[in-house]
Parts: sequence; structure tokens; C-alpha cells
Amino acid sequence: MTYEPSLSDEELKELDRRIAKALRERSVEGLQVLGMGEAGLALAWPDDQPTAVVKRLWVSDSAADAQAQFKRIREYISRLAPFVEIAPTELRAIVADSGRTIPFIVQPLYPKEQLVEHVLEVDEPSSDHPIVTSLTEAIVLSGADGRQALDGQFTNFAWVENKLVFFDLGSPFMYDENGNAEDVPGVLDSLPTILRPVLRKQIQGTMNRLGGKRYTFRQAAISLPRIGQDRWLVPALNAFNEHLDDPLTVEEIHTRISRMYRELKVMKSLMRVQRAWAVGVRRRPYETFITDSFTGELT
Ligand SMILES: Nc1ncnc2c1ncn2[C@@H]1O[C@H](COP(=O)(O)OP(=O)(O)O)[C@@H](O)[C@H]1O
Ligand SMILES: [Mg+2]
Repeated sequence: MTYEPSLSDEELKELDRRIAKALRERSVEGLQVLGMGEAGLALAWPDDQPTAVVKRLWVSDSAADAQAQFKRIREYISRLAPFVEIAPTELRAIVADSGRTIPFIVQPLYPKEQLVEHVLEVDEPSSDHPIVTSLTEAIVLSGADGRQALDGQFTNFAWVENKLVFFDLGSPFMYDENGNAEDVPGVLDSLPTILRPVLRKQIQGTMNRLGGKRYTFRQAAISLPRIGQDRWLVPALNAFNEHLDDPLTVEEIHTRISRMYRELKVMKSLMRVQRAWAVGVRRRPYETFITDSFTGELT
């Protein structure tokens, strides 16, 4: 795909105004939401015949934090590039009306037909399906040295000319030589002091677990029932299990989904506490969408 830089700074500012409004009003009106993850929204731009996807990254007071995020994402891209194709990705920052630096990821908008999620809907499930074999290979290869991990959920890829293209770059999974997740700049600074130890542990725990091949396969498998594609679960597990000493079972995946649902609920309540604290005590706008990725609602 040839990719033209698709938005001017003015357009990003306009989009950011709409995002700020959506955050204030807890409504996505005026935004074209493509997908809802745990903390962010992927937005299509422009309104008519959109060609780009814009994802707002973590917003903090310091412009240096934006650059630190960009640096990590660039590093993540270069670490993953040997193993999987990466969507063309622009890293852009603007200064908003509020004076804050707002970092964005801008990518080409893959048409629905090219999303792995869509191909799984129309194709017949099989362990030999090229999407399954390509994802299996990408997970094994990218995780082999333990220094980075793919977020292997099927929903994070496009399928272009028989190749997987990875586009979920907002939260890089990178590890030091002891297997510990590298600290995420900015994120903890903006939390109430009292919540920091809990959340640091939670974030670190998740990040550390994501480093393992089994965990990455499990996340990939979990993403199937979440998009209503249970029928792909057994074929996918059969392919993944070829690479695991301790095989994944359908039962484990279902148990994990229930647990994840409970954990996410706790996390979202913590975020709401954090938001109440930021807005009520510190009198600052709360810059993160609290999404319910199961129901697609903002909370
Ligand atoms: N470049 C893109 N083209 C088309 N759809 C996209 C693109 N990037 C993201 N999406 C849609 O938005 C969803 C969420 O985006 P993603 O980058 O995976 O972020 P996260 O999962 O961290 O919220 C994706 O699962 C996909 O449906
Ligand atoms: Mg994703």
C-alpha cells in the first residue's frame, strides 16, 4: 500500500477538539469510532470517505512525555519489523488549545475487507488457514528472544496480499534482559499517589506475562470468542499448541475470559476513581476514555 501523510496539523487539532468534547460529555458523538480497546479509541478521518485512522496516545503536561512515547513506539516497530509487517505509522504531536502537547498515531485506514476480524467471519475455520499459520509463526518468532512481544489478538491485524499487518502499536511490550517490562513513561505520573503502587503492579504484571509465548497465544485465542468467532477457537488452539509444552484448552480460554472481564471491571472502577480525583480535586480535564470494550460504551 502506498501511504500519503494524510492529515494536516489543523485537522489533528480539529479532531482533538472533538475528542476533548467527547471526553467532557462522555459521548462519542462527532467521532467516527472504528474500534474500542481498553483505553483508547481508533478514529476514522476525515468524515467523508475516510482514509486515515487516528489514535490519541497518552496525554501529559510535558511535551517530553510525548517524545518519550514516540521513542518507545519507534523502538517497538524496529524490534518487531523483522518478524511481522507493521502498518505505515506516523507519530504526530500537536499543541492543543489547552496548551498541552497531544501525541497521536496516524495510520492508513484498512478497509473492512482487509481486517483479519472480517476475513475470519467469511472464511472457513481451519488450523491451516494462512492467517492462523502466519500469526502462529509471528508469535513464535517475535517472542523467541524475550525482548518484545506482539499483542497477538486477531483484532490487531490486517490481512493484505496474504500477509499479516500489525497495527496496534499504542502499548509497546518490551522487556529488559531479565524479562521485566520496561517502564511506561508518563502513565503513572498522572495517577493519584495512592493508586500508583497498585496500578504499577498490575501494569507490570500484565506486561511481564505478555512477554511469554504461551500468554501471547492465549491472548490471541481469547480475542476469538470476544468477536463472536468461537468457531475458530479449536482450529487456532490446535495450531498454537504445536508450539507449547503445556497446551491451551478451550476451557482455559473461557475461564480466562470470565476472569479478564472481572479484572477489567475492577480496573475501570479504579479509573473512574482516578477521573473523579483528577477532575474534582486537581481541577484538570481527564484525558482518557473509559471504555467498555465488551459493550462498546463509554463509562
Ligand atoms: N489502521 C487501521 N485500519 C482499520 N481499522 C483499524 C486500524 N487501526 C485500528 N483499527 C480498528 O480499531 C480497533 C482498535 O485499534 P487498536 O490499534 O487495536 O487499539 P487498541 O486495541 O489498543 O484499542 C482495531 O481492533 C480495529 O478494529
Ligand atoms: Mg487492539
